[in-house]
Amino acid sequence: MSKNSVSSGERSIGTVAIRWHGGSLELLDQRLLPDEEHWITLEGASGVAQCIRDMVVRGAPAIGISAAYGVALAARHAGGGDWKAEIKQAIRELAAARPTAVNLFWALQEMEREFACCHSLDEAVKRLATTAVRIHEEDLAANLAMADNALEHMAAEKPFSVLTHCNTGALATGGYGTALGVIRRLHEAKLLKDVYADETRPWLQGSRLTAWELSRDGIPVTLNADGAAAAIMAAGKVRWVIVGADRITANGDVANKIGTYSLAVLARHHKVGFMVVAPSSTVDMSLESGKDIPIEEREGSELRQVRGMSIAPAGVKVFNPVFDVTPASLIDVIVTEKGVVSTPNLTGMRSLFR
Ligand code: MRU
Repeated sequence: MSKNSVSSGERSIGTVAIRWHGGSLELLDQRLLPDEEHWITLEGASGVAQCIRDMVVRGAPAIGISAAYGVALAARHAGGGDWKAEIKQAIRELAAARPTAVNLFWALQEMEREFACCHSLDEAVKRLATTAVRIHEEDLAANLAMADNALEHMAAEKPFSVLTHCNTGALATGGYGTALGVIRRLHEAKLLKDVYADETRPWLQGSRLTAWELSRDGIPVTLNADGAAAAIMAAGKVRWVIVGADRITANGDVANKIGTYSLAVLARHHKVGFMVVAPSSTVDMSLESGKDIPIEEREGSELRQVRGMSIAPAGVKVFNPVFDVTPASLIDVIVTEKGVVSTPNLTGMRSLFR
């Protein structure tokens, strides 16, 4: 464990990216990693919404947790006049920050439910802060439980290698991680040979964040270009592809970082297992299938430039969806803290989620 990592009981939960101090929220600026560890202090919901939009904080559960703290800050700094209207406006602003990860809307709904029970601003300040802390703590607990569930499902006896995409670690969650939490757990159980980390163009969550998190915690990692995944699988180097999710629909379709769908197609072709790891706050049973998931498209500059340097003609047309949908039929197992759904479909999903 690196000296900067945090531990929960026996387990190292990795480098956290969200710190709550009661009256203020600190977010580790993930845009600057791995070069610089810079924390941004926020005292209002608008700043939190901007940090979510600009990817200071990213990863579905981390977005939800930050938004919950954003609502707590809105209560704490409400003017005292029409405090209810101020908090409602903060919730609307946070909800508009990013469209795909359902954890954002789930967390805001939890906060709204609590807010609806508050009869005074004082009460709202206390109750909303307590609820945000609960959402944060429950996410960490869910990650630890998912890792145990996944390990049991894999029933491995000898160490093996895995491939992962994007960043699903402590940085993307309340700590430990979803897919990266399973990878941490495999490492703890001495069942992990190596982790192939897709660099994850264009935002480079794999090279800038996953490779950084794993190296820091002494977990073996080999960085690869996204286009190398097929060759890695063809060479028989990995037994599982393990990824996170931004939204899982009632039929088991999964929205996750762009490139996940092609990994699922490759995994099926090469007979490599394909595992999705996500807390129940990522499950959206109100949507029938992945076709209904709003997919965020970001600015063309994310593809035309790398850190301000041009890597494409200035005006070239760009298609930049930042998530894709993997159909349930290509997924071997969805792991949640409530249990696992093998060969996911509507019946399997309904057996765990109402
Ligand atoms: O655009 P990002 O970095 O927010 O996308 C993150 C992902 O797609 C993750 O795989 C997903 O949120 C799961 S994080 C535990």
